[in-house]
Amino acid sequence: MLDHLTVVTHPLVQHKLTIMRDRDTSTAGFRQLLREISLLLAYEVTRELEMTTKTIQTPVMEMDAPTLDGKKLALISILRAGNGLMDGILELIPSARVGFVGLYRDEKTLQPVEYYFKVPEDLGDRLVIAVDPMLATGNSSVAAIDKLKAAGATNIRFLCLLAAPEGIKRMKEAHPDVPIVTAAVDECLNDHGYIVPGLGDAGDRMFGTK
Ligand code: URA
Repeated sequence: MLDHLTVVTHPLVQHKLTIMRDRDTSTAGFRQLLREISLLLAYEVTRELEMTTKTIQTPVMEMDAPTLDGKKLALISILRAGNGLMDGILELIPSARVGFVGLYRDEKTLQPVEYYFKVPEDLGDRLVIAVDPMLATGNSSVAAIDKLKAAGATNIRFLCLLAAPEGIKRMKEAHPDVPIVTAAVDECLNDHGYIVPGLGDAGDRMFGTK
């Protein structure tokens, strides 16, 4: 069982994250690094997948070799920034089903507003990995996970790039059964709900919208 919070301190992750934080990093560079880092984070979030063995024949002899237990996965992107983490993870787990939860943050109340929800039908049979680069107030993440649970999900993990202590606390209170995997825990949120020091608006940074 993963801990409630896993911080991936691997040097490659930390190095790439530092370049992503730098405001002079280009949109193309940011997107490429996010794809690369998503592979490394996916490695951690899938660390405890159930295993079994199967008998195979190597060129030398027969062996009982480890293999995934066929547990089905669903990757859920919390739009729009979640999409930046999806491609890399799908390269590692090509058979995963994919869903989308569309939430935007009301800039005044900082509360999430749903505009899209489309997920695989059999969520209850799957390990669900919800992805969103930024765990800030936690409002959107908690709302997204509320909806995934309402749709039948029982085994959920949350993968992000950066987390604020406020968001981690909020998630732990609302969803203590959902382990969080992140590359870093930053200091706090500012008055606009941005993570400090953070990297700015992840969606704008990856799509070049500002
Ligand atoms: N969402 C972002 O993209 N960045 C933050 O700092 C907080 C929420």
